Amino acid sequence: MKRIGVLTSGGDSSGMNSAIRGVVRTALHMGAEVYGIRQGYKGLLEEEIFKMKSRMAGGIIHHGGTIIKTARCLEFKEKENQEKAVSILKKYGIEGLVVIGGDGSLKGAEALSALGVPTVTVPGTIDNDMPGTDETIGFDTAVNTVREATNKIRDTAASHDRAALIEVMGRHAGHIALAAGLACGAEYILVPEIPFEKEKLAKSLMKQMECGRTNNIIICAEGAADARVLGAWLKEKTKIDICITILGYIQRGGAPSARDAMLGSILGSLAAEALIKGEHINCVAGTKNGQAILVPYDKAEQVRRVFSKELYNLAAILGTAAVEEPII
Ligand code: ADP
Ligand code: F6P
Repeated sequence: MKRIGVLTSGGDSSGMNSAIRGVVRTALHMGAEVYGIRQGYKGLLEEEIFKMKSRMAGGIIHHGGTIIKTARCLEFKEKENQEKAVSILKKYGIEGLVVIGGDGSLKGAEALSALGVPTVTVPGTIDNDMPGTDETIGFDTAVNTVREATNKIRDTAASHDRAALIEVMGRHAGHIALAAGLACGAEYILVPEIPFEKEKLAKSLMKQMECGRTNNIIICAEGAADARVLGAWLKEKTKIDICITILGYIQRGGAPSARDAMLGSILGSLAAEALIKGEHINCVAGTKNGQAILVPYDKAEQVRRVFSKELYNLAAILGTAAVEEPII
């Protein structure tokens, strides 16, 4: 291919800029042209399309967000809009498209591929819940952000003899909650993958407090419970002072971790190369066991991050299950 396009779509995630840089510089290095499309599929339908030069990808690798902006565009689910997008891409002579985004964005890319436009999707979402990869760009940064925030909240919880209930993102997945919970020694981790009983949680929390463990941390994935509702119920039931924090959007932005900056560079580059060579198209550029791979869309479900019950059990053992003796 001589001309490819690139867009970012869905929720932004740290490392998307590294992926854009990877796409732009690889394409230029291979002698192809790159067109940026602003605001994902919305910008594609509105013809927000511009030629990218190498310098535009300079000074962005260490910044969160996405310089070409992102959007959610519900109209893109309609076939007539997908067809419109195909004719716009044709009009600009764009032969293939790199889509950087989450699982919704991947569906949009698959729709374009089905209409004859070759695409490669680079997984960019903090949720780590995409087919075709066991790692998504932005997850590592989000986990580090949650860890840092939780460690700070623990200081306050410890100083005031409070418990802390912290809600984290992840949509329907508990990967952020599990990884961050394990990394900061949370006493409890609530995730959608493993049902929990709030009565049992209340009982255990009271026991912990009675034993003198007075700064219990409960990390709660947004898909498992609403922290405000659960927190109010727990306070009422246990009479324990519980501080509730919803970490929200601080988890999405910020400078990418080294891992995400690397991942963005590697997968962005792989996607551009695959499209330009034309050998592996209609694929996710993802990772499996730490190796970058191209997985065809129709096989993508076979590769994805599986929620690790072993790690979850380990976190539970280290958090509360192995704690038997009162500490005071
Ligand atoms: P993410 O990509 O982060 O998962 P969304 O689920 O919001 O975020 O999807 C991003 C965009 O992808 C949507 O706003 C829409 O433009 C497009 N999209 C989502 N689902 C589909 C679908 N089934 N068909 C076509 N496009 C889709
Ligand atoms: O998919 C990324 C994510 O941050 C989810 O963790 C969260 O549920 C959702 O996006 C929030 O989306 P919005 O940007 O529409 O508030």
